[in-house]
Amino acid sequence: MALFRIPKLKNGLYGEFMCGGTLISDQYILSAAHCFDSDDHRLGNVTIILGEHNIEERESSTRVIRYATNIYLNGYNKADQSNDIALVRLNRPLDFNGQHSHLQPICLPTDDSIQSDGNSCMATGWGKTEETGDGGRTPSVLKEVRLPIRSNDYCRERYPQDFRWNTNICAGYDRGGRDACQGDSGGPLNCQLNNGVWVIEGITSYGRGCARVDTPGVYTKVSAYLPWIKYVTGI
Ligand code: ARG
Repeated sequence: MALFRIPKLKNGLYGEFMCGGTLISDQYILSAAHCFDSDDHRLGNVTIILGEHNIEERESSTRVIRYATNIYLNGYNKADQSNDIALVRLNRPLDFNGQHSHLQPICLPTDDSIQSDGNSCMATGWGKTEETGDGGRTPSVLKEVRLPIRSNDYCRERYPQDFRWNTNICAGYDRGGRDACQGDSGGPLNCQLNNGVWVIEGITSYGRGCARVDTPGVYTKVSAYLPWIKYVTGI
């Protein structure tokens, strides 16, 4: 996973926490468009951290990317949160045979459908562990949570204005208790296929509160954007 931070030196080692992202090749990180929406979140102001685990400690796996980058959006609409997807390009490819050999990109879905059975999906990130209270603080160590993919109808009922049938994925439990939360945006919903391979099916986008009963999270459906991803990245 990648981590985007705004380099204000007061907060944490590498600046203030912002959003997650996922490496999909040696040069591109998939994330959410809403992460790059406000002025102090413009890409020029952002530091990209790769190979991170504990954000409070200096770890030998950490790679801080300071070289200039580009960002690509695809019709993101702030009003209804549609097309909440972004590609971040590193100016120089990572060296998977050298200093970045401990990093690995995730596989993309191969066609426009949900490929897993939806029962082995994990959302990951450094976002808040509870909507409010003590857990409202962000954890220092990367967290993951298993979330089932739900029917579109389930999310459409709960987010009638915003949920997009073809370009969103719905995930979460009726009983709540487990969810992504603020700070997890841009990070992946990764699913394991029957053959053992993990693919990135979703990008954490929005939800009402966090982990509330009967309130699933909404993810951008990566497979709906494969032609655009190919157009931008060539992969
Ligand atoms: N938009 C949030 C962020 O910026 C992510 C919200 C996900 N919420 C949820 N309940 N699944 O980090």
